Parts: sequence; structure tokens; C-alpha cells
Amino acid sequence: MTAGAPAAVLAGIGAYVPPNPVSNHDLAARLDTSDEWIRTRTGISSRHVVLPGQATSDLAVEAGRRALDSAGAEHAERVDTVVLATATPDRPCPATAPEVAWRLGLGTVAAFDVSAVCAGFLYGLATAAGLIAAGTADRVLLIGADAFTTLVDPRDRATAVVFADGAGAVLLRAGAPEEPGAVGRVVLGSDGSLGDLLHVPGGGSRQRGSGRPERPGDAYLRMAGRDTYRHAVARMTAASRQAVEAAGWSLADIDRLAAHQANARILATVAEDLGIPEDRRLSNIAHTGNTVAASVPMLLADATADGTLAAGHRVLLTAFGAGLAWGATTVTWPEVKPG
Ligand code: UT7
Repeated sequence: MTAGAPAAVLAGIGAYVPPNPVSNHDLAARLDTSDEWIRTRTGISSRHVVLPGQATSDLAVEAGRRALDSAGAEHAERVDTVVLATATPDRPCPATAPEVAWRLGLGTVAAFDVSAVCAGFLYGLATAAGLIAAGTADRVLLIGADAFTTLVDPRDRATAVVFADGAGAVLLRAGAPEEPGAVGRVVLGSDGSLGDLLHVPGGGSRQRGSGRPERPGDAYLRMAGRDTYRHAVARMTAASRQAVEAAGWSLADIDRLAAHQANARILATVAEDLGIPEDRRLSNIAHTGNTVAASVPMLLADATADGTLAAGHRVLLTAFGAGLAWGATTVTWPEVKPG
């Protein structure tokens, strides 16, 4: 970051999940799986899934409103940019952020989507921080939202038990790098040579431009779970180390690890590799599942609400997903009330 440039400082937070929980038992009633398998292999007991007709913007608007409430009128009334991290826009074109901004009553502010799947919130943080540092934006509403179950084949037990829907949002204001809530250097990375590990074959220009019609199933996510798992551990661990070093901290300084809620076993391995003890790891995967771009902000909002994350905690954030794409950063948690 340029010396003397403003930092992005967290001033509000909120989250939203669709109303109906879906339990492992509900899934086991229609798939060849069991509550025991899902709990022991993923750490998930239940998750929320969009209602028929509900789309990503519906989730994003609710989470965005809560983050604006949390920040208070002083900041909410001066939002000049909306960044929506999502892999499930309402439509392939246009971006969903302008609609979200409009429905939140934010008028004609700048609004665009960021597409980095499960790492979307980290890429969004870097984007917002860059806009603020450059003086292009002063108050950014950053939302991570996904109706990812709309991409999941309901008959595929390996993905149907893992992925879920939700939204989380933060309001970032221009401030000083030393302030509580200032987002540290965001470490980002990608590996496009492994894009096939998690992908949706249909619906994009590759398939449309080929002239061949979409085959049944091409609209659904394909995931090589085992390989993805291995890369998730390696990339989140390495990026976390870099982010902590960039902050001038040591791993022993970390009070809370807020890692993408992909799988409880992945989280445990990353935390063990980093030497972060169990009582410093935030987790809500048991009742959220993997909510993709919403995962990290929902985790931060839930932990703020239940008090496991409090002002003064030094927090390490990290995420990994399809792309492949990953990221990590640090923040000293500010005084913030959940919206
Ligand atoms: O969001 C970021 C990107 N995503 C991730 O990071 C996800 C990473 N991957 C994972 O979380 C795990 O790989 C999964 C949860 C998806 C799968 O767990 P796993 O322990 O890696 O299982 P596996 O794919 O190696 O499969 C083991 C066995 C297989 O049976 P066989 O071949 O050993 O007979 C699967 O067919 O478990 C079977 N299996 C299931 N059994 C019951 C796979 N899914 C299920 C299921 N219920 N839902």
C-alpha cells in the first residue's frame, strides 16, 4: 500500500441465511448418504438452502442492509461503492451488484461483481482496500453472497451435502492503517492450471461458442473433492503465513482464525499446521455448510454476534476455492455491533 494512503477500516457487519434449515437427515432421506458420514467427513449437521425463486441478490440485499444498520447512518448514508463477491449472479449478464445497490436505496453508486468463488470475499477485500487507497472510494459495502446450491446437482451426494446458501457483508470506510478494523495487506493467488478440479462445464462462452447444445448435467458443479481438499490445506496455510508476516505479527499473536468454512477437517489441518489452538479457531460450519463467497463474512458476523470474536482480537482471515483462487489477510477486530 502507498505510504500515507488511507486504509479500508471495517465499520459494520451483517449476515443473512434463507429461512429453512436442511438437516443431514433431510438429505439422507433422498440421497445415498447418512448423518454420520456427513458429520464425520465434513463437520456439517445442517445448512440453509434458498427457497424456490430466491436468488443471490435476495440474500445479498438482506446481508447488506444488516451491515448498513450495524455501521449506522453516519457511514451508511455515505456509501459510494458496492462490491458483490459471488459465483452465482442472478443472471449471466449484467452483474448483480447494481441491482443490490438500487434495492438498498443507495442510488447510482459504483457497483460491480467480483468472481473468485470461495476466495471471493478476500478478493473483494483487496479490491475495496485498493479503491479506498486510490481515493476512488470512501465507503464500500462489500457483500459475499451465493445461492450456490443452484449449481449443485441434487443427485450428487459428494457436493449436495457440502454446499449451501447465504450472504455476509461488511461496510469498509477510509481510515488510518493503525486503527482497529484496518484491513492488512491482502495476499492473493491463483492456479488456473487446476481450474478443472471444481468447475461448471456449461453456461459460459466456451460451451455457447462451441455451437453444441448444453448436455444434461453441464449446468452443474463438478468437483474432484480429494484433490481440492489437498490444495485447500496447502494454499490456505501458505497464504496465512505470508499475511501474518506482512502484518509484522507472528502466528502466536493470532487470537482468532477465520478460515473459509469448506470442511471441518480442512480447517483443523490448516489450524494445526499453523499451530493455532482449538479455542482460537472460529467455526460455524456445523449449521451453515460451505456458503462459498458468503462463508468468511458470515463467520465473522456470527462470531461477533455470539461474542467469540471481540474488539482487540487479532484475526487471521483465509479462503480458498475454485479457480483455483485463494487469499489471506489480517485485521485487529474493531468495536462493531452486528446488524
Ligand atoms: O469450498 C472450497 C472448495 N471445496 C473444498 O475445499 C471441498 C474439499 N473436499 C472435501 O471437503 C471432501 O473431499 C468431501 C467432503 C467432498 C468428500 O470427503 P472425502 O473424505 O474426501 O471423501 P472421498 O471423496 O474420498 O470419498 C470417500 C468415499 C467414496 O466411496 P468409496 O469410493 O470409498 O467407496 C465416496 O463415494 O465416500 C463416498 N462418499 C459418500 N458417502 C456417503 C462421497 N460422498 C458421500 C456422501 N455420503 N455424501
